Amino acid sequence: MTTEHLIRIEDVYKAYSGKTILRNIDLAIRAGEFCSVVGPSGCGKSTLLRLILGEEIPDEGRVLLNGQPVGLPDPRRGVVYQKYSLFPHMTVLENVMCGPSYLGLNGNTKASASSIKDEAMYYLERVRLDKAANKFPHELSGGMQQRAAIAQTLIVHPEVLLMDEPFGALDPDTREDLQLFLLELWEELSLTILFVTHSLEEAFYVGTRLLALSQYYDSGDEDHSHGATIVEDHALPTVAQPTNIKTNTRFQELIAGVRDRAFDPSVAQRTQAFNLTHKDSYRTE
Ligand SMILES: Nc1ncnc2c1ncn2[C@@H]1O[C@H](COP(=O)(O)OP(=O)(O)OP(=O)(O)O)[C@@H](O)[C@H]1O
Ligand SMILES: [Mg+2]
Repeated sequence: MTTEHLIRIEDVYKAYSGKTILRNIDLAIRAGEFCSVVGPSGCGKSTLLRLILGEEIPDEGRVLLNGQPVGLPDPRRGVVYQKYSLFPHMTVLENVMCGPSYLGLNGNTKASASSIKDEAMYYLERVRLDKAANKFPHELSGGMQQRAAIAQTLIVHPEVLLMDEPFGALDPDTREDLQLFLLELWEELSLTILFVTHSLEEAFYVGTRLLALSQYYDSGDEDHSHGATIVEDHALPTVAQPTNIKTNTRFQELIAGVRDRAFDPSVAQRTQAFNLTHKDSYRTE
């Protein structure tokens, strides 16, 4: 068993009420990667994150973290959702401090309470919210709330940061700011990120690797009830600014290709035709 991959998913199947949602998922992710995850609505992107979190268990196959089954949710995996990650009755600082306080990290002494506060301030500075430390969530803009949610997650030092459409509720300008901000944070703190988004432009801008899940392929079954699998897994070129994606014809062609292959219900790619060119991509059949 190799442990060179931080996350390894082997031949995973997941069904709800007898309906297969995810089928034959094979995925290996190294520490430090920034993986964007896209796919048609309802194809199972959030389910994939829940399997990595340990909130769901696969019906078949294995989900490994550092070579060991992931088990139940724990601080090794942090998650940021589109909204509602913050407790409304607590200040930003208290929200960021609550993870380590609850977990009893550093013990429960007075000295450790102040060290948790110092660490919370460190992360609030990283997400540029140190001046808003004593505000309540409702006093923050949507973008500030999402940055606070990221700090709240990072303070417990997760080995992987799972993000489920974290910028989906933000206006376009704030969203672009946060994309750039997240890339800088990823670089500064050497994070490993799985980032689910509905926006292909966003996926292509922030990620170093693109994963597309889709139920639209030819498995030999008549309909698409066979469940979604990984139909795209490749490295992404880097781009300087989010806006360049919209004006650069090469990126537009790449995005259109993914849209055609993964999002069009009329496509029927055979598994052999999937664009799985990432060096770590593999498929068990
Ligand atoms: N706990 C559950 N019980 C039953 N069905 C579920 C459960 N969770 C998800 N599903 C179903 O599984 C499918 C995949 O759901 P999931 O939320 O993972 O998709 P998604 O790709 O994240 O969708 P979206 O793009 O809308 O966020 C959907 O059909 C959903 O209704
Ligand atoms: Mg979802």
